[in-house]
Amino acid sequence: MNTDDLGQRVADDVADGGGLDGLRRLSGVIAALEERRTGLVEELRRGKAATWEEIGRACGMTRQGATRRWAGRLQARSFGVAADSYQHGRPGYPQALIGSAVPREARKVLDLGAGTGKLTRLLVEAGLDVVAVEPDEGMRARLAAAVPKAAVRAGSAEHIPLPDGSVDTVVVAQAWHWFDQAAAVPEIARVLAPGGTLALVWNVRDESQPWAAELGALMHRSTRQQIDTAPLLPAPFGTPERLEIRWEHPTTPAGIIDMVASRSYVIALPEAERARLLADVEQLLATHPDLAGRERIAMPYVTRCTRVRLG
Ligand SMILES: C[S@@+](CC[C@H](N)C(=O)[O-])C[C@H]1O[C@@H](n2cnc3c(N)ncnc32)[C@H](O)[C@@H]1O
Repeated sequence: MNTDDLGQRVADDVADGGGLDGLRRLSGVIAALEERRTGLVEELRRGKAATWEEIGRACGMTRQGATRRWAGRLQARSFGVAADSYQHGRPGYPQALIGSAVPREARKVLDLGAGTGKLTRLLVEAGLDVVAVEPDEGMRARLAAAVPKAAVRAGSAEHIPLPDGSVDTVVVAQAWHWFDQAAAVPEIARVLAPGGTLALVWNVRDESQPWAAELGALMHRSTRQQIDTAPLLPAPFGTPERLEIRWEHPTTPAGIIDMVASRSYVIALPEAERARLLADVEQLLATHPDLAGRERIAMPYVTRCTRVRLG
């Protein structure tokens, strides 16, 4: 039997009887197949076993079609490659964020796209019952070691491994822009209890000091990642409330180099360009009059939070 006939037979079997039940079953199988296909593309690209041209041909697409479909997703899943740098170099969040992102009455909180657990730890320390969902195995391993009191689960924003209405609040720190939002919005609404809260959080470097502006210019000289840190959310979410907290992350020159090395667009750079960028950052840290010779550096940030309620 050729693959077209096989596909037709599977589709007929799954959708047997038609109607909404058939449509639901068929959609579930299509989503699982698409997930498997993306997994194969990831394996092929990570191992450099196939070009985008070859992948496109195998999927019946052009090279551009294949990169459009998967390159962003691969970048979203690239953090595990630099998980140690991430853990060492990325800032945490100011304690005051918890009171703003999580309503006082909330008990059970989902940290979605939890990474190495930088926000998860604060949520646990605030006495909340925390489940952390993270798709990347490397990030998840560090998260489980760093925050043993959180329940750590494999999963994604598009497939959250939790029952309907099972959490009071979902927090998404530094990860919303990586989600397939058309799939993530209904999935988050499904796991939230009625009236539950969704909080979207970003740490943005405050570049008002000249050295911080120079660092930013270096980091973005080959790519600039545009992120909407005050997004609007569609129904079933209500009107957003916004808040900002200014604070400083105490770090070191090595911490700043790791912060740069753990950015997804830096991970994705060709090796020579990546090495050149990290060397230039090292040079800035060693020679800028505000930084030279300093062992401790206060990196200024603004933490932005958008909070919305269900319904
Ligand atoms: C920049 S990190 C933020 C990690 C953590 N929340 C923090 O604040 O440090 C982005 C995280 O989102 C995860 N991620 C990417 N795509 C995702 C998706 N579709 N669903 C859930 N998490 C995703 C990545 O694996 C990564 O750990």
